Amino acid sequence: MNRRQFIKRSTMACAAVALLPGHLPAQAAEKAAKPASSGTPGTGKVPDYAKDMLHSDMDGIGPDGKPTGQKATYTGASKANATAEKAMRHKMKLTKDEQAILDGKDGEEKAKLMKILVAFGNVFGAEKLVELGGAPHSNMFIGAEYMRSMIKMLDECAKAGLKSYARYTVNPRPYDVYNVQNNAKDMTMIYEGYKLQWDLDYVHVRLGAPDLNYRTCACYLDEVGNAPEPGTYVAWAESSAVNYGNSVLGIRTNRNGAGMDLIQAILGKAPMFGLMTDEGRKAKWLVEVKTSKEPDWGAIGTAIGRKCVEDVPYVTGLDKYFKGGKVTADNMHLLKAMGSATASSGAVGLYHVEGVTPDAKKMGRDMLAKGYKTYVIDDKEQARIISTFKNLWPKKDGEPTAAFIGCPHNTYHEVIKWGKLVTEALDKAGKTEAAIPVYMFMPNKVRDRAIEENGELISKMKRAGMHATNMCSVSYAGMKGFSDRVRGVTNSAKTRNYSTIRYFPDEILVKIIVTGKIPKGA
Ligand code: F3S
Repeated sequence: MNRRQFIKRSTMACAAVALLPGHLPAQAAEKAAKPASSGTPGTGKVPDYAKDMLHSDMDGIGPDGKPTGQKATYTGASKANATAEKAMRHKMKLTKDEQAILDGKDGEEKAKLMKILVAFGNVFGAEKLVELGGAPHSNMFIGAEYMRSMIKMLDECAKAGLKSYARYTVNPRPYDVYNVQNNAKDMTMIYEGYKLQWDLDYVHVRLGAPDLNYRTCACYLDEVGNAPEPGTYVAWAESSAVNYGNSVLGIRTNRNGAGMDLIQAILGKAPMFGLMTDEGRKAKWLVEVKTSKEPDWGAIGTAIGRKCVEDVPYVTGLDKYFKGGKVTADNMHLLKAMGSATASSGAVGLYHVEGVTPDAKKMGRDMLAKGYKTYVIDDKEQARIISTFKNLWPKKDGEPTAAFIGCPHNTYHEVIKWGKLVTEALDKAGKTEAAIPVYMFMPNKVRDRAIEENGELISKMKRAGMHATNMCSVSYAGMKGFSDRVRGVTNSAKTRNYSTIRYFPDEILVKIIVTGKIPKGA
């Protein structure tokens, strides 16, 4: 089972236990139909379909390239050697009010959500539920058939009048028929493949999400405005957002699967474990970045993710790229690029950067756990990692056909930077149009700001073939038949990790965009 299948199966199995008896094996359905009373299952018996709930197929890889035996849970809470049977015997403490909700005080739907949440907390050894603040972020963004049961469950919640405790943000939609996929072939595939998109969007409207202009994975951008105060407990999903939120904003969330984010948003509570605890935020790795020049942020993120899997790294040697230890609108994309790579090549949900990120600023090397291990990334190691980025195009020596920039979504600073880089390079080459289309992924809110403040540049970008789109790049790249039709290039290590699109540093990518050719030796 691959990672994405695991997410789909584990979240659906978990949610389905209490809410969708019609979709379940008879025994589980019978259990789900009974009113909740005692609080937790607590029998220690684990149904076959839930045996994998404690880990995914992410293995830690040692320096020799062999698995270390560490298994990722995908929540950010390592559970090496744990078994589902043992975990199911754990019982979290509930307050009187929480027990009353479980017993049906606030209606049948909320009782079922609470039942799921308590089971989830027990599995991961949580001691209690905590009240959430700030605002949730959801990665329920794909209206495809495999999400049907989850969408149905949330639709039942919406029909019962349930809502998130705060207005929440949602990941970008998986397609864009306005700006990019507006040809007959793509549109047909989209309408056939994402038949439930309307139902899903309708669910979000009723549960408390804003309009589609706010759709993005980079919900923490100023233009979107979901950036809770440091220390706030929240329930976020989307690996890159969780990773940035925990690390750079200093919020406290686990890496929730799709659906678990909204269950917690509706209840306003989350089980306290893993990255929400002081202990769980300690670093098991000291990562020393010792490159002679500014590192390739995607490459070092990939290196860290592969090494640490889902353990927390404490990274040194990067503070010089953040003047005065400050993360600003002009440099946040560096951490966004590195962090999303750690979260996609591994399952890192939190990292500390010495002298820069809030936990590291406050506690320094006290954030290192006892017995931590050390990993050095120097020029040689960075080059070794880049050399593992294979050319996955089916026609290996073909010319590139499209560029993908903005996974996670571009910041305003990045949009302007790329606009200038490409249009100035075109001017220099005596051209007005890029050799290949350039897809710039960003929330509409960022696009709107760019138009308002830099209208002339944005017009020039558009004429050059740079398309602003608010969809998810990987969902586009993951469409059936994509790699047969498109030979993509990107500067996103995350996109590289999940697709056949090839990764290049910014300066090479600009050359490819202008000439339509991969420079020799790149
Ligand atoms: Fe965002 Fe999609 Fe990349 S949600 S992080 S653009 S995979």
